[in-house]
Order: sequence, then structure tokens, then C-alpha cells
Amino acid sequence: MTYDVIVLGAGAAGLMAAATAGQAGARVLVLDHAEAAGKKILISGGGRCNFTNTGTTAGCFLSENPHFAKSALARYTQWDFLALVDRYGIAWHEKTLGQLFCDGSARQILAMLLEECEKGGVEIRLSTRIGEIAHADGIFRVAGVEAAQLVIATGGPSIPKMGASGIAYQIAERFGLPVVTPRPALVPLTLGEEAQAFRDISGLSLPVTARVGTVSFTEAALFTHRGLSGPAILQASSYWHEGAPLVLNLLPNAFDLLRAARQRMPRARLRAALSEHLPNRLAEVMVARIGLQKELANCSDADLERAAEHLTHLTLHPTGTEGFAKAEVTAGGISTAALSSRTMEAKDVPGLYVIGEAVDVTGWLGGYNFQWAWSSGRAAGLAV
Ligand code: FDA
Repeated sequence: MTYDVIVLGAGAAGLMAAATAGQAGARVLVLDHAEAAGKKILISGGGRCNFTNTGTTAGCFLSENPHFAKSALARYTQWDFLALVDRYGIAWHEKTLGQLFCDGSARQILAMLLEECEKGGVEIRLSTRIGEIAHADGIFRVAGVEAAQLVIATGGPSIPKMGASGIAYQIAERFGLPVVTPRPALVPLTLGEEAQAFRDISGLSLPVTARVGTVSFTEAALFTHRGLSGPAILQASSYWHEGAPLVLNLLPNAFDLLRAARQRMPRARLRAALSEHLPNRLAEVMVARIGLQKELANCSDADLERAAEHLTHLTLHPTGTEGFAKAEVTAGGISTAALSSRTMEAKDVPGLYVIGEAVDVTGWLGGYNFQWAWSSGRAAGLAV
């Protein structure tokens, strides 16, 4: 059997590209070293797969070229994927911030993709080692098969125990494609010694605005025994780099709230005032940091301003991240400079395509990464 297209990786992007190409009439083979297809789809969104986001725009992605994702996202949108989900009668709901989840199970999304592949006559070969890729006379040879078109959809190295690997970068090197240094993203941050101060509130979660540089996210943060996690922190982590402070706003309008408390309960102390707005244990930790023990009646405006500054700008100094083992995605990857934004084909290697997480396009938390997998997979699938 000869093939027109070989897709490396039976994940979200690879299955979408394979189904698209197969349904357009190409003979498609998908190779994957895992014993099952779409393993990350199955564990995604807590088993319910946050399969897209209604608010998807190129602005929700990190990349050295922030415009790169626009073309693919515009030609296969969140609404296109939702229409596919609806055609399969998969029930879904919007959880928050435009995040769409299956009512039932992520298995439905995988089953849908596999059925789409079947409709396109796609062959999927699992438990297959990729090994060396030969390329001569416009033909790619890999794992004993050959085709004129090769699609790299092997994702990034996040969560290696799920079968994730950095093979995309080795392939990039083999074909001379530049790689933007991969780094863990959507990942908990560690605080080193600073975590000691929050040891007693490990497990506590509350809404915050988390800011790194000029980028901020308002969602929940979770104190852990090693540092911080929760959606706001995972989002901020994608923008974090070594040495950058993380600034949390725990209590917007803190100054106004404290002044009102001073008037309403002058005999009370800061701890009581804060406990009205923050979990008790966090109020205690913050009073220890602020060090203001007087009755509120004896606190000057300047005292309250200083306390408010601590609460609106709790400045922490992450020492690192929990790494690829805990990262939901990998930021960086094969440089968009080497690829066509319309087709995902390598500009200097005709017939070679790169899609999904392997590319230097990384979405925010909330269904954006799958949407990129669908859109970039579709773009390559139509082009091959
Ligand atoms: P993906 O990783 O899906 O597929 C790559 C495939 O290549 C895999 O099948 C793998 O086995 C194969 N492969 C890798 N190395 C290979 C090698 N050396 N040889 C052969 N095959 C190889 N996103 C989102 O939008 N909504 C969500 O709800 C979630 N939830 C979520 C939860 C968790 C726990 C994680 C880890 C990640 C998410 N994500 C997410 C992110 C999302 O899963 C991710 O962005 C996409 O799966 C990327 O799709 P790809 O097809 O590019 O890679």
C-alpha cells in the first residue's frame, strides 16, 4: 500500500489533519508510538474535554509571531468545530469564560475524530516507533513506509508519562527548521523559601488578579505546599520567565474597604476587617506580612494605604515552575518563521508540514489549545 500523506502523531491535530486529508481523497497513514490514539484528549478538561472557546482570537495565543495563528483560526473557527460536535449530537455546555465542555465525556470527542478518520479511509498504526526519517527525491520514508507529504503532529514534551516527547524538535533539526526554545506553560509556579509564609494555607483557593509584566488574568489562584497553582496562576505562568515577579491583587478596592471598616468598626483590628473579604487563614497571613496590629481607629490613612498596597500588590518571586511533568502545554516549539501560516508547510522543505502543539503557538487555558490543534490540523489537511 502506498500513501499520499503520512501523519506522525494520532493526537488532536494529527487526527484532524488526517480526517480532512482522507475525506478530500488522499490515502493517509497515521503513525503513533502510543498504544492508543488521543490520550491527551481523554484526560483533558478533567475527562470532559474543554474542546474550544467561543472567544478564540489570535490574541489568546503566545508566539514569537503573534499574527501567525490568524489565518488558520479564521479558516476553521471555534464555530466550525462546534458545528462538527453538534452534527455528532454530542451534548455540551459553556462552563465559564467561553469554555465549552462535553456534558458526557472526552471519549465522545475522540470517537468523533476517529469516525471522521474512518470516513476518510485513514489508516492508523499505533505502537509504532518512528526512528529515522529519510528524505530523497521528494519522498519521505519513515518506519518502513513512504509518502510525498509528511505531517508532524507529535505535540510537545508536556506530561511525558502520557507518551509526550520532543521528537518534533529532533525532526525540525533534521530538516533545518529553527526551534523557539520550548518551555513548560500553563504550569504551577514554585516559590522556594517564600512558600514557607503560605505553608498553613496550602489548599486554599480564592479569586485574584495575577499579573506578570503587563499581562494579567482574573481567575482563581490556589496556594500549594510548594507555591501557587489554579487557573490565574497557570495562565500567568505562560508569560513568566526566570526572575520576573508575580503580582497578586487579592482585594481590589482594598483602601476604600479598609477606610469603610475603620468607620464602621473602629475598635476592630485589621485581621477582623480583612476576614470580611478574605478567607480567615489568608487574612492572618496577610496581617503578619503587613504588621499593622493597632485598632483601626488608630490607623492613619497612610497606614491603611500601606496595608492596601500589600493586598493589591502581593509581590512574589517564583523560583521556577513544576516543569514539563506538570505543564498542561509546551510554549515555544518549531518556529513559525519556517512555516506558511496558510498551509503549515515548511517554506524550505516542500511536502513537510508541522501542526498543533509542536509549533510555536501556545493558547491560554480554556480550550484554546485544542482549537489551535483543530485549526492548524485542518489547514494542513486541506493543503496536503
Ligand atoms: P497531542 O499531544 O495531543 O498528540 C501528540 C501525539 O503524538 C500523541 O498521540 C503522542 O503519543 C504522539 N507522539 C509523541 N511523541 C511521539 C514519538 N516519539 N513517536 C510517535 N508518536 C509520538 N487543551 C484544551 O484546549 N482544553 C483542555 O481541556 C485541555 N486539557 C488538558 C489537560 C491536560 C492534563 C493536558 C496535559 C493538556 C490539556 N490540554 C487542553 C492541552 C491539549 O491536550 C494539547 O494542546 C493538545 O492535545 C495538542 O494537540 P497535538 O495533536 O498537537 O498533540
